[in-house]
Amino acid sequence: MSCMSRQKIILGITGGIAAYKTPELIRRLKDRGADVQVVLTRSAREFVTETTLQAVSGLPVRTNLWDKEAEAAMGHIELARWADLVLIAPATAEIMARLASGAAPDLLTTLCLATGAPIAIAPAMNHVMWSNPAVQENRQKLADRGFRILGPADGDQACGESGPGRMLEPDDIVKAVTAPIAVAEVGPAPLAGKNVMITAGPTIEPIDPVRFISNRSSGKMGYALAASARDAGASVILISGPANIPLPDGVDSISVESAREMFAAVHANIDDVDIFVGAAAVGDYHAADVKPEKIKKSHENLSITLVKNPDILSSVARLKDGPFTVGFAAETENLHEHAFGKLENKNLDMIVANLVGKGRGFDKDDNAVEVFWHEGERAFPLMNKKTLAGELVTLIAERYQVSLQTDTKTELPSIAVRD
Ligand code: C5P
Repeated sequence: MSCMSRQKIILGITGGIAAYKTPELIRRLKDRGADVQVVLTRSAREFVTETTLQAVSGLPVRTNLWDKEAEAAMGHIELARWADLVLIAPATAEIMARLASGAAPDLLTTLCLATGAPIAIAPAMNHVMWSNPAVQENRQKLADRGFRILGPADGDQACGESGPGRMLEPDDIVKAVTAPIAVAEVGPAPLAGKNVMITAGPTIEPIDPVRFISNRSSGKMGYALAASARDAGASVILISGPANIPLPDGVDSISVESAREMFAAVHANIDDVDIFVGAAAVGDYHAADVKPEKIKKSHENLSITLVKNPDILSSVARLKDGPFTVGFAAETENLHEHAFGKLENKNLDMIVANLVGKGRGFDKDDNAVEVFWHEGERAFPLMNKKTLAGELVTLIAERYQVSLQTDTKTELPSIAVRD
């Protein structure tokens, strides 16, 4: 193991058939360097035995709030404080209802109320139950309170039917809740000696001295990518629009406001860049005429003429002998089609696509994405953006190495540098 401290996870198992997968889940969490304390509900004991779980986790299983011996060893409040994460898998409709209502009749629900750690649940139930409005209301309540909802997956169910309600596979749950394995544990740093440039955050386009046009991007994904690229051994330059989050340590950064400033900062520093990742939500337009004084509300209607901004990513992708380019595509529909269109039209090497809107994507801590490149694609289920960034950097490093051997990019005419 690395010198990183071990992640402490309370794994709550509730009474669904998918509980049979939990010994495997525990094994994989432990492989990723986690300590796992199992807490079983009464009905979970119908599906999986304490003996098995104790053997795999290496810790006595907790089942009862009133167990004097276990409480003497570590009281439930102490246990709630011990955890870095509470993971409930499988999570039944029943536990979701209890958590949503704040009821705490047993050890697991009590721990959930008493902990300050994040709570993630992997729901598993019959698809009709999952789509029941009561369950969906509880899901929404929990999501609004910051619970991470992992899955469920769509597919064949133990009841013989098919639909959304399967528990995510142990591997996908593990990827979603654990930090990426430290680079030192998997061999030499995959991006050692490489220069990586990342754009992040929103841009803002002034209209007058006090007003601007912007978007909801938080910068979280781009900043997490910068930190992961740094951890993978790269020298990182982060070019960021206004974001209210701390800059990662150990990366060079340039702060900009408008898309045209971002464009200029990118091109002023692009020469030795090996990999360019466009994670910024760049404004598509700027005001043709920025008023020198505050615009007065003297007219019923007001029109602002907008002029298209330069496409930064596309301009980098068209540079002769330019870097390996990775774009992002935030879409509200037809993800695959739009992402592929951008991969081709912008002459990119890779594109990371995600659905946004209805509480997804922007300004959230979690994201689920699909990545496309010319010869393949890979899907990443909903997970924390920091974990996702680690996975994406690993994939980018892999594809970058392949691109060095086979240059698949066609050369397109470069875009004139405006302003
Ligand atoms: O075309 P669309 O805006 O959806 O493309 C998104 C991708 O292009 C992102 O990677 C974003 O950072 C980049 N982009 C850019 N400059 C623009 C518009 C988008 O670099 N003016």
